[in-house]
Parts: sequence; structure tokens; C-alpha cells
Amino acid sequence: MTAPFDLALPARISFGAGRAAELPAIVAGLGERVLVVTGATPQRVEPRLAPLRSAASALAVVSVAGEPTVDDARRAADLGRQVDADVVLAIGGGSAIDLAKATAMLLANGGDPMDYLEVVGRGQPIVQDPLPLVAAPTTSGTGAEVTANAVLAVPEHGVKVSLRHPRMVPRHAVVDPELTLGCPPAVTAAAGMDALTQCLEPYVSNRANPMTDGWARTGLLAAGRSLRAAHADGSDLTARTDLALCSLVGGLALANAKLGAVHGFAGVLGGLTGAAHGAICAALLAPVCRANLARADAALVARFDDVARWLTGDPDVSAEDGITWIERLVADLGIPPLAAHGLRADQVDAVVAASARASSMAGNPVALTDHELAAIYRAALGEARRVPGRGDGDG
Ligand SMILES: NC(=O)c1ccc[n+]([C@@H]2O[C@H](COP(=O)([O-])OP(=O)(O)OC[C@H]3O[C@@H](n4cnc5c(N)ncnc54)[C@H](O)[C@@H]3O)[C@@H](O)[C@H]2O)c1
Repeated sequence: MTAPFDLALPARISFGAGRAAELPAIVAGLGERVLVVTGATPQRVEPRLAPLRSAASALAVVSVAGEPTVDDARRAADLGRQVDADVVLAIGGGSAIDLAKATAMLLANGGDPMDYLEVVGRGQPIVQDPLPLVAAPTTSGTGAEVTANAVLAVPEHGVKVSLRHPRMVPRHAVVDPELTLGCPPAVTAAAGMDALTQCLEPYVSNRANPMTDGWARTGLLAAGRSLRAAHADGSDLTARTDLALCSLVGGLALANAKLGAVHGFAGVLGGLTGAAHGAICAALLAPVCRANLARADAALVARFDDVARWLTGDPDVSAEDGITWIERLVADLGIPPLAAHGLRADQVDAVVAASARASSMAGNPVALTDHELAAIYRAALGEARRVPGRGDGDG
């Protein structure tokens, strides 16, 4: 019997090459004083803003240099108040979209990000609908344009945690693969692995439902077909379109099922290192799959078998082949193990303790023990393989 489920979705999704041309009209239909949130290089999106500048009665642009922090959210909300913004446009990667989501929420609810953050904040409920938000991703990775959370780094706690509420799903997601054509190979690789992970974890999660299963299947097939191709040739619009689809459906899946241990670790490790979120997920994915598979019942093994078939496009492979395929993909994309980002084996106890408390860990299909989590962390570090026998512990 199908278990009960809820869905949180944007009011509208516009998908396809060229759709970004509709952004000015979409934004103008929702408000006239616009706060634009974008990434490290605002010049890249400036041509898209020109028609909006003439239509809007006020327009301010805030850019975020890296993954957003609580201070970035405070700064962006201040700017939004200065122009009395009544609509927010996010055009950028997951970092810009998350900052826009946090800002749209703060502008409507008041207060400080720490009032609402989960885990390290006061976890206050979000009671007002955020300002209407239009989100146009320029990376294919996070699916943040359709999810209900915004990830913020809290440097004083050394973690990344979320503001989260179904109200925070953007009003309109405009997913145009042409916006991703300029992504360099390293961004394509890291973001692409994030998208793939966000389809895989909800599919094996203990909260999967028939809707999220369909999205996950679509995304895993698309990533299997096209992640290598988009990395090899960034101008390949067919491959970019597949990755944009994978990212979108991954966001829909994660927002409506749960994630798992990869993301349980990723929030903690992202607070300890400047590594890209997707690169952290990539290094963790195979070790987490292996740990889950070792404890899987027949139904979960069957799900990992599905994952292997969809990723490889080969109907005869099994779960273990799928994990080997993921390891080869990560290596071919040039994504290094976690030790390359300065993470160390002597951090294992603190990493495991914090990761076990992360909200994503609740979706993992198996309740992993601290010992199993420590073994995953050590495997993802890669130190044991590169420098065997140098005090990496017993995992
Ligand atoms: N809210 C969610 O549901 C969710 C889900 C997963 C991840 N995240 C968060 O998203 C963030 C990562 O987002 P991301 O992976 O999209 O990376 P990003 O937004 O940090 O962008 C990575 C780099 O690529 C650049 N860039 C973006 N688009 C480009 C383009 N078209 N051409 C050239 N350069 C481009 C950016 O300026 C930046 O330097 C992390 O903070 C992560 O925690 C959020």
C-alpha cells in the first residue's frame, strides 16, 4: 500500500532552452521593485537584466562571492529593505538561489537568519509567505529553484544548515539549460554530481514516494547519459539539457522525500572546508552507497539495482556494478577525495557526532552506527588508499 505523502511544489516551472527570455515579463507580473540576487560574476547576467531595468520602478543587485553565509543574508535583506523590494529574482547557481530564498523569507518575516535556522539557530517557525521569488539556475546541480530550504554557512559554528519551510519553495522556477553553457568543467562536474546524488538519495530514502521515484528515475537516466558529455564539451546543449532536467527533478525529489547520509555529512564537512558542495557529495557517494547496501534488505537491494541499471544504461548490471560505475565517474570527472580539501582523519569523532544530528541523516534508509559513519568518512577521505597504514584508525 502506498504510504501517505505530501508534495511541496513551485506554482509554476518553465523548462527548456531559451526560456530565460521570459524572465522580465515573469518578474514584472509579480512586482515592480526588484531585488536581483546573483553569483560571483554579476556581469554574466547583466544582459538578462537590461529589459527589467527599464520596466521596474526600482532594481537593486546583490551578488554572493561563494556559498552564502548568515551575514550575506543580513546584507541582502538590508538592501531589499532599502529599495522596498516586492519581488526577488535569483539568477545564478545554488548559492545565489539560496541567498535569494533566505532574503525573500527575511523580508516578509523580519528578524535575523539565526531566529529561523535549524540545528544551530532558534528554529522559529516561518509564518509569513516570503516575497514572491523567481529562480533561474545557471548551474545544473542543486535544484534549489524548487526546494523548500536555503542552506547558509554559519562560520561561528563551522557548519552549513538550512532555513526550511514549504512556504520557501520559489514561486516560479525558470530552468533554461542555455544559462549553464558557460559553466567551466569543474563546476559542471561538482554540480552534476550533486544533482545525481539528489536523485539517488531520495530514491533509496525511507521517505520515497511514487512521485519522487519517478523524478529520481528520470534524473538518474539523464545523468547517466549526459554528465560525462557535458563535462567533456560544455557547449553540448543536448547534454546540458539532460543535466538541467536531472537537477530540476533532483530538487523536486529531495524536497518531497528525504536525502540521506551523503547530505548528512555534506552540511558538516561544507562548514569545515571551502570545497564545493557537489565535490563533497561526490567523494561520499560511493562509500555511503556501499555502507547502505551492506545492511540492505531485499527491497533496498532492488532499489540499488534500479539505480545501477539507470545510471549505466545496462539492464544486466547489479547494485555493486552501479557503485563501481559511480567511483569511475567521480575519478574521470577529476573530483579528488576529501583529504585533498584539507579534511583529516583526526576529525573523525567530531564529524561523526555532528553528521549524525544533521536533518538529512533522518532520510537514510539504514540507521548507520557511529562506527559505520566513521568508516564512510575515512573511505571518502581517501587517505587510507593514498597513505596506507598511517594512523587512519580501525575503520
Ligand atoms: N537549497 C537547496 O535545496 C540546495 C541543494 C543542494 C545544494 N545547495 C547549496 O547550493 C550551493 C552550491 O550551489 P552550486 O553548486 O550551484 O554552486 P555555486 O552557486 O556556488 O556556483 C559555483 C561557481 O560557479 C559560478 N557559476 C555559476 N553559474 C555559472 C555559469 N553559468 N557560468 C560560469 N560560472 C558559473 C559561480 O559564480 C560560482 O563561482 C551550496 O551552498 C549548497 O549547500 C542548496
